[in-house]
Amino acid sequence: MAAVEGREEHIRLAGIMKGLHADLRKKFKKYAKDFEQIWKEHCGDTETLRQYADAMHHLATDHWTKLPETRIDWCRKTILEYFHGGGLKKALDKVSRRIQVHKAKKLERERSDQLRNETDEQTDGSLDCSSDQVCYDVTANNRLRVSKEVSETHTGLSTTKITTDIGVPVRGKLRLLDVGSCYNPFAAYEEFMSIGLDISPANSTVHQCDFLHLELTDPDPIALSKEDSFDNLPDKISQLPRQSFHVVVFSLLLEYLPSADQRWTCCCNAYHLLAGNGLLVIVTPDSHKQHRNAAMIKSWRQAIESIGFVRWRYVKLDHIHCLAFRKLHTGEVRDKEVGPASSDMLYIPQDFHDDDHEDAEVVRHSGTESDNENNSRTFEELPIFWDSDNSN
Ligand SMILES: C[S@@+](CC[C@H](N)C(=O)[O-])C[C@H]1O[C@@H](n2cnc3c(N)ncnc32)[C@H](O)[C@@H]1O
Repeated sequence: MAAVEGREEHIRLAGIMKGLHADLRKKFKKYAKDFEQIWKEHCGDTETLRQYADAMHHLATDHWTKLPETRIDWCRKTILEYFHGGGLKKALDKVSRRIQVHKAKKLERERSDQLRNETDEQTDGSLDCSSDQVCYDVTANNRLRVSKEVSETHTGLSTTKITTDIGVPVRGKLRLLDVGSCYNPFAAYEEFMSIGLDISPANSTVHQCDFLHLELTDPDPIALSKEDSFDNLPDKISQLPRQSFHVVVFSLLLEYLPSADQRWTCCCNAYHLLAGNGLLVIVTPDSHKQHRNAAMIKSWRQAIESIGFVRWRYVKLDHIHCLAFRKLHTGEVRDKEVGPASSDMLYIPQDFHDDDHEDAEVVRHSGTESDNENNSRTFEELPIFWDSDNSN
């Protein structure tokens, strides 16, 4: 009996969420040109957003916690493996090896050029950054290397470029920005200084913020060197400093957004907010087998890598795809070219559903679920479905 009630409650809560997703998508398809205004109205619809936040919070904390591995567990495990379990070190070692190979090749080229031209040109052995060559700037054993580069602009004014790349070993708490956090699930772990952002926070530990309209400010290396650098953030956040986070998490965020442009903006913002070698972790729902949406994941990979990332890990679990991307560090040039990309490559299957189908979905969720077949179809199609009691 309890299992049946639990299942019915699960359907009800998931229906609230799915209804909101479908409604947003429908409006986007109908009024794409005015979507900025619709999004603004959506963010101002506090009652609808509150209902959604409550539903999400209950699902996450009352229904999905009995799973052997939740999406939050996977994120945590992956982040710790990357920063403290040798993942980042391995990645940096690989980059270093590449630098050595490129240096050796460059020297060889220079020597043969010298011989051929019989000139007495001198080389200083430093790397230049011409288009076909590699320009890296990795130092081993640095924790958070901060460097400043002052350059003269053509106006005679000088500009300062600050970089805050992450090196190994990484000490102290990891600054983790959880976007679309809802209830700040990462706050439970002491390894993280977790900053949750949401248009509709489910509790007071989450900051109210529309990530799509976040203002990016200059990084402050002095503040970043302190453990309490983000302790006094206001309840409502409209700006954050670039290159300041070890991790950005999008857990079940991207499919909330009805337009691929919005998803692209999120990924670009994540890129700016992460320090070099920081990790972007993405969880997106999919109850089908891995191959079913393999093309979508490939497309996401290409799009996200084109922004300035390199994929570090990908896993398909029962109901989710889990991805982690490392942000390239200052001066790093990848070994393989990434193909051209555009925002529409961040598509989701629902982008191609027609409006009638969307209506049908919403009706199915809001009505009483009597028909078994309908029930199981509803479950299959839920954007986020983990059945806690595993019945049926
Ligand atoms: C499906 S919930 C995921 C909650 C949580 N990350 C989890 O995995 O349990 C998606 C969340 O993203 C939030 N969200 C959507 N668009 C956002 C935006 N532009 N800025 C901040 N949060 C956003 C929603 O309010 C919602 O709480």
